[in-house]
Amino acid sequence: MSGLKKKLRDFILQLGQNSKFFCVVYYTFFSNSFNREFRAVLLGRKSYFDNLEQNAGSEFLLRRNTHRLEKGLLMRPLKDVFALDYIEETVKNYLDLKSNYSVNNRESATFLWSRDVLQQYFQTVASHPVIENAKKEFYENGKDETCEDNVKKIPYKRFSNSKVNFDDFYELCIQRRSVRWFLDKQVPRDLIVKALNAAKYSPSACNRQPFTFRIFDEKESARRVGAIPGGTRGFSENFPAIAVVVGDLSAYPFERDRHVIYIDGALASMSFMFALETLGLSSCPINWPDVEPTEQKMDIELELKPYERPVMLIAFGYPDPDGLVAFSEKKSIDEIAFFQ
Ligand SMILES: Cc1cc2nc3c(=O)[nH]c(=O)nc-3n(C[C@H](O)[C@H](O)[C@H](O)COP(=O)(O)O)c2cc1C
Repeated sequence: MSGLKKKLRDFILQLGQNSKFFCVVYYTFFSNSFNREFRAVLLGRKSYFDNLEQNAGSEFLLRRNTHRLEKGLLMRPLKDVFALDYIEETVKNYLDLKSNYSVNNRESATFLWSRDVLQQYFQTVASHPVIENAKKEFYENGKDETCEDNVKKIPYKRFSNSKVNFDDFYELCIQRRSVRWFLDKQVPRDLIVKALNAAKYSPSACNRQPFTFRIFDEKESARRVGAIPGGTRGFSENFPAIAVVVGDLSAYPFERDRHVIYIDGALASMSFMFALETLGLSSCPINWPDVEPTEQKMDIELELKPYERPVMLIAFGYPDPDGLVAFSEKKSIDEIAFFQ
């Protein structure tokens, strides 16, 4: 960068401190750091709207709206009529997905949950022209005898006595440390699936679950993928397995939700790591900074769509009992908690 350009850049940076406009100027002309995110968010929105326009349906929209209906069904006091502004959209989306899904997909957890909640909604709400319309559509075209099952996936009274006591949980929290040295031993796939099953119960915004776990559980591929991010230098060569948590920005119609993939992905990652610990496995979360060369490598490795973003990586395996772990002292409660 020439001296003049550098001076101009620094000047714009100064102005940007107090001006949104100059922040935009800065990131338009002097830094392309956000370009990848812009593109991923934009193409995510496009994919979301394309699916709706082509009457293909969006599973993310179905999950979100089904969850909104659930919340309406558990509201106190229960309203006679609710969801007028999105019930038709929900039924249309359900039917679009139904006609485009294969038989297997129609029996997917999302689809059965949505069907049950819609049925419960129509049985619960009072009559209204919008609701009657949607109800007619749903019962005429939406009933699917092939996937009847016994457990209705509708709001229920939760059993509230925890069998997990605090001391055990606290011990698990202390036991889980970032482990970087593993035994040269393959991780059985059924244990990985068990841990993922626990991870999927993590909360996510509107229950969209906008992430996937891409698992590399062969030594060679785990080491190859584990070596892509810079933060694994010096120890990626001993990874028996690694998960890349990938967020899907096509879950959102609006930019305002662009950070949710990172939040939801991280929450699920934490449950995954805790679950691994209970199964005798340990893990190390790995940072995924937005860096062009590593992004390109990961794009190729995972064949990512332009609106899919790696959130983080998690190396895992059987811990080497001789490997040291960092003490990594935590902050005190006084430093992190403020009762206000
Ligand atoms: C988002 C995130 C990114 C991390 N990235 C790396 C990394 O690139 N390399 C590494 O060795 N450890 C990484 N860690 C592990 C942290 O260094 C570790 O969690 C921290 O020092 C606290 O130690 P503990 O996990 O043992 O409690 C990461 C952790 C998180 C949560």
